This record gives sequence, structure tokens and C-alpha cells, in this order.
Amino acid sequence: MLGEALGLPSQDLTSLYRGGFLHDIGKIGIPDAILFKRGMLTAEEWEVMRSHPALGEEICRPMRSLWPVLPIIRGHHERWDGSGYPDGLAGEEIPLLARILQVADIYDALTTERPYKLALAPDAAFAVMEEEVRRGWRDPELVPLFASIIQTHPSADLTSLEASLENMRVAVSR
Ligand SMILES: [Fe+2]
Repeated sequence: MLGEALGLPSQDLTSLYRGGFLHDIGKIGIPDAILFKRGMLTAEEWEVMRSHPALGEEICRPMRSLWPVLPIIRGHHERWDGSGYPDGLAGEEIPLLARILQVADIYDALTTERPYKLALAPDAAFAVMEEEVRRGWRDPELVPLFASIIQTHPSADLTSLEASLENMRVAVSR
């Protein structure tokens, strides 16, 4: 929906759709002892964890149809102020599709229950994301746009979201 709101062409929407599934695929190369560790990771373990975007890019690169998705996979942990990884890109150097995926991914993470944390309500999640914009981490235009899209499509409207995902599924499988 964020991609649509920005008027992106259908190839980009397809890449976002695929990136939604594939951006963390590099985690299959991360040892379970790190992936499922309870509590804080050590500096060395973080180093390994931070290899998952480049690893994912490597895994997907042999598939030509996934080439447009590679910048999403590689770039989804970059930060607007250049403090992210793996390349330390800043601002619009970070591929737009990666920035879009990241905003949706963070919202999803914040509003989903995990073994180590409760799910936040949408407004609380937006507050966290706005704080991250103030810290310089996130795209200052995409985050408010995303919040306004979600607020005008409350979860009661899930059926239309499912319908649009189904359309995408059909389009991608053609
Ligand atoms: Fe990731």
C-alpha cells in the first residue's frame, strides 16, 4: 500500500511483494544459537547477525527474476542517518524500495507479539517509529505517510487488503 501510495510502477510493487517474503532469507545462514538466543547478543554475535542482508543477497543473486529484489534484501537494515548496515548508506542513497520495506517491516515487528515482547497497539507503534525518525534512523517522509495509510485503512478493512494481496499473488505467479 505504501508503494501504491507513492505511485510506483507495477514492477516495483512486485519487487516489494517478493521482498516482503525474502528480505530476511539470509537468516537461514545464521546459527540457531544466535538466532534464537534469549537475552543480549555479544558483539561477536551481532557481527554474525548483521551478515544476514549480504548473505540473503548472495542466496538470491543466481535467480535473475530476483535481481530487482536484491537492493531490498541488502538495504533493509540501512538507516537514514548512515548508521545502519551493511553499507552505511544515508538518506536517498538507500534504495527507495528498501526504505519502504523497512518501514512496513518495523511496524509489523512492533505490532506482533514475540516470545520476548508483547505486541504494541498501532498508535504506540507509530509513536516508536516517530521517535526513530527524530533520532535520524528512518525516512522522515515515509513514516508519516505510512501512518496515515494505516490510520485510513483500519484493521476492519483487512478483507480489501487480503484481496489486494491475492491480486498481487496472481500477478506474480503469471
Ligand atoms: Fe533483517
